Amino acid sequence: MKTLDEINQYYVENTESELFKGVKNIVPGEGNPNADIMFIGEAPGAVEDKLGRPFVGPAGKFLDTLLESIGLKREDVFITNVVKCRPPNNRDPSDEEKKAFKPWLKAQIEFIDPKVFVPLGRHALANFLPNITISKVHGQIFKVGRNSRAVFVMYHPAVALYNGSYREILLSDMKNLKEYLEKEKAKEEKQLKMF
Ligand code: URA
Repeated sequence: MKTLDEINQYYVENTESELFKGVKNIVPGEGNPNADIMFIGEAPGAVEDKLGRPFVGPAGKFLDTLLESIGLKREDVFITNVVKCRPPNNRDPSDEEKKAFKPWLKAQIEFIDPKVFVPLGRHALANFLPNITISKVHGQIFKVGRNSRAVFVMYHPAVALYNGSYREILLSDMKNLKEYLEKEKAKEEKQLKMF
């Protein structure tokens, strides 16, 4: 079995995208390889590009606050992006660029096998649930795909930087996420006791 570093190295060498050419650093993602929660953004920004780490700019600072609000640290979860290289001038990645990076994300998902995915914001969410409106269903769990994976719908933490009223919404949604995980844990423990 490969390690996560080996998986990342494989996709650094085998992902075909012009985006690699313009970056200071590739941003593969970081955190606990056995995490229950996997946060997935769209693409690195300027600070992430400079440091080679995901969500370490202003939006990342608020993500840290959100994690702390439910008693978690970055090291407890896994944080990555759909696209692992910063698009020039922070433009949105194209569909083609996202497609090129999908096998890499898929391999990370298979390796980590989290209990819940949290795509951050509508762009990342569209990769999992293309037909839903984030404002209507944020803070809720959806089951997707053949393996019925749990996807928790959440705004991108950057929205709270532009509009302070989203801060409380995001903090409140994090509580729902914590409750969901606690319920799942209780279910698992009940099942274990049956044996
Ligand atoms: N926004 C994202 O979507 N990803 C990052 O890594 C940073 C900001």
